[in-house]
Amino acid sequence: MIAIRSLCLASLLFVLPGFTSQLLAAHPQAPQAPAPDASKESPAAKLGPEDIAMGKKLFAGNCAGCHGFAGGGQLGPNLHGIAERNGNAGVFEVIRNGQGGMPPQMSLNDQRAWQVVAFVRTLGASTSTETAKGDPVKGKAVYDANGCALCHSIDGQGGGVGPQLTSIGKSRVPSYFHDFLLDPGKNPPPDMMLPERGSNTGYLLVKVVTKDGKEMTGIRVNEDTFTIELRDIGGHFYSFDKSNLKTIETEPGKTLMPSYSNLSATDLDDLVAYLSSLKGAR
Ligand code: HEC
Ligand code: HEC
Repeated sequence: MIAIRSLCLASLLFVLPGFTSQLLAAHPQAPQAPAPDASKESPAAKLGPEDIAMGKKLFAGNCAGCHGFAGGGQLGPNLHGIAERNGNAGVFEVIRNGQGGMPPQMSLNDQRAWQVVAFVRTLGASTSTETAKGDPVKGKAVYDANGCALCHSIDGQGGGVGPQLTSIGKSRVPSYFHDFLLDPGKNPPPDMMLPERGSNTGYLLVKVVTKDGKEMTGIRVNEDTFTIELRDIGGHFYSFDKSNLKTIETEPGKTLMPSYSNLSATDLDDLVAYLSSLKGAR
């Protein structure tokens, strides 16, 4: 699973330079959402179980690299409930024409595209096809006992070194949490805006060495032609004049997020279940 994911990611990174410029130009336009009842006449309505099965395979081959195998979101958004929100024809349109940072899926003919729609429809509104097997209540205790709140906030409670996790369960699948907690640097959160990492722009670590030999590593907060600003784990900000720096290196494989590979398998499952249950208001 990890191997497959990094393979997908690797092939993605390969196409990213062009892809990123499209993304930067992305406009947050809503797809022309047809009225949901237009789906009654849509070809998707005539598709049977074999089409869904074929759609699932096509999804794995054409979409999962960005949306995750369970459609829970990776480089692209979570697709659960999208057919209900945009209508079957709306999903078909996105596959055909692309949207924002998503390129049109040229390799799928109309019939194939409808089969994918038939599969996407089965993803449903809120149920993830992948469910966490742990106990979310026990998982909250694991969260509290391991200092996660030092760096993360949920519903406004906690620290700000890492991303807030209030609704993280909406956009990530359990297997992602599992892999990520074991080896965060190797399985960082996806972010399509950052080609050098395929990861979360806001948390990229950068190491600078000043001309007089001082080193500092921190999260890149700001960078322009002349200055770079880093934040350390204690939340302190450091601003550097680039003319005083010998080197500036991004550290895409590293993160301030510690590995939790020391957790027992049960604690890890419970923690994953807790994170998956976080679906609070955005
Ligand atoms: C290269 C990565 C990539 C691939 C491959 C990809 N998508 Fe996307 N997809 C995205 C991104 C990024 C967005 C968000 C686009 C935007 O609105 O800016 C998106 C958006 C969507 C949306 C609209 C979601 C919404 O909330 O508006 C649907 C539906 C969708 N994709 C379905 C698919 C399907 C089905 C496939 C496979 C046939 C697929 N995508 C392949 C990256 C991808
Ligand atoms: C020392 C600070 C720190 C601690 C402690 C910490 N994290 Fe993190 N966490 C981070 C940072 C920074 C990131 C962003 C990772 C990146 O992009 O490099 C992160 C990312 C995450 C993400 C990924 C979010 C996403 O968008 O997918 C999850 C989930 C997460 N942490 C959960 C936890 C849990 C659960 C714990 C406790 C077991 C924990 N963290 C402890 C700093 C921390």
